[in-house]
Amino acid sequence: MEIVFNEQELAEVQKIQAKYPQKESSIMPILWMAQKKFGYLSNEVMIYVAKLLEISPTKVEGVATFYTMFFKKQMGKHHIQVCTNVSCMLRGGVKIFQHLSDKFNISNMETTEDGLFSLEECECMGACSGAPMMAINEDYHENITIEKLEELLAICK
Ligand code: FES
Repeated sequence: MEIVFNEQELAEVQKIQAKYPQKESSIMPILWMAQKKFGYLSNEVMIYVAKLLEISPTKVEGVATFYTMFFKKQMGKHHIQVCTNVSCMLRGGVKIFQHLSDKFNISNMETTEDGLFSLEECECMGACSGAPMMAINEDYHENITIEKLEELLAICK
């Protein structure tokens, strides 16, 4: 895939940049757009974003590597994040993570061979009252049990 935004996306980039006093400050939403389009932030993608923002690729890499929401390798079509921080751990988060790890035979930040699922063990996702919680891509799911989890997985195609 050629690493380039289309005209419509470039217009969106300009709209985002117009909200900030400096182009550089728009780095987070632009990286998010890039990840959505290209799947993950490869070196090539980071260099492209650096050119758009007129900053050094090293600065882009610094942001991309600091925030865990940015992937540096291709993840699954359904990226599953399971919180195992205190509230979730006490209510079964670790069991949920282990169940997924065993079921798919993958560890933290790995992807199934068919590319359908990837798994990530997360710190608190700010939904402790619904512990244990997990996310599939951008959808949060609270009070997860193994049964609920299996129901959710069954509709992931
Ligand atoms: S500890 Fe899991 S969401 Fe806060």
